[in-house]
Amino acid sequence: METVKNGARVLVIHGPNLNMLGKREPDIYGKVTLDEIDSHLKELGQSLGLVVETFQSNHEGAIVEKIQAAVETQNGLIINPAAYTHTSIAIRDALLLLAIPIIEVHLSNIYKRGSLRRKSMIADVTTAQISGLGANGYNMALEAIATMIQ
Ligand code: DQA
Repeated sequence: METVKNGARVLVIHGPNLNMLGKREPDIYGKVTLDEIDSHLKELGQSLGLVVETFQSNHEGAIVEKIQAAVETQNGLIINPAAYTHTSIAIRDALLLLAIPIIEVHLSNIYKRGSLRRKSMIADVTTAQISGLGANGYNMALEAIATMIQ
């Protein structure tokens, strides 16, 4: 892979209902808010020499369009498609446009929560998956991407 210089760009996409983190089923997703996750990722990115952009949407089409826009602009992608993980062929197809490292993150362990959540539509088109490490999973994903692209 070609080496990317300092200032490489990493996009973080959060899917539906993740804007409610902190209030939403805290026993499963923890008490940390999405703003706290995003601010921490931006700070961590800075210390790794990366520019981190974050995006949350409750709409599948908006997520697809954000992925499409990443084709020319981003060097890495972290995505938690939330419930769309289990349903969205459109998000899967959009990810296939990208030739950059993509890490799928889930706060909860989707394999421990019943058959509904066990299937990820994107797992086999991403570089790796982190599932069940809470908010720290995003940080680990960013560190992994930094290693892969620098
Ligand atoms: C989730 C797991 C999904 O099954 C669920 O629909 C979510 C969040 C997670 O981060 O654990 O909204 O992606």
